[in-house]
Amino acid sequence: MSVQGAVWLTTFAGVMAVSAVFIYVISRSGQAGEPVQVKTRAYRIRRWLFLALVVFGVWVTGTTLRPFPIEPQRASTAPVQVVPVVAYQWAWKMTADSLRAGVPVEFEVTSGDVNHGFAIYDSDDRLLTQTQAMPGVTNRLVHTFARPGKYRVLCLEYCGTAHHVMIREFEVLAGEEAWQ
Ligand code: CUA
Repeated sequence: MSVQGAVWLTTFAGVMAVSAVFIYVISRSGQAGEPVQVKTRAYRIRRWLFLALVVFGVWVTGTTLRPFPIEPQRASTAPVQVVPVVAYQWAWKMTADSLRAGVPVEFEVTSGDVNHGFAIYDSDDRLLTQTQAMPGVTNRLVHTFARPGKYRVLCLEYCGTAHHVMIREFEVLAGEEAWQ
């Protein structure tokens, strides 16, 4: 089953479960009960439900963030390709057109006007890594491209009417080819 299919089924099951609870409550709303007794029982159920939610949340976070999607940003002793990037409404100023695979790239990202989102996508339009482009601040983003190929920078933060045209393509070459 596709991820979308699984998400749809899970959502559907969740909505059905919530609906069933509502129908149950409505169907029993006419009955009289001892308020103190009802309250004590409801609070006990609520405590267990809350605990179950916390455990479920921790489990979901742990399983979906492994491997962690952002690689370590510590300074490395290996050679690094430094690429300055300036975002403008509505273009990326980035001097390097081709980078090398297997060698860490350090993008130094800033903005000449408003906030933008610097996001790198692979040729299948999968988001690889991202950081914010902010005026007056330089964010360093280290990423090592595993495979040669064409990549695209897209803006990931709404920055005005032409936000969607902020696209910049660049190429990653195999290990030994020079980078410019
Ligand atoms: Cu720049 Cu959206």
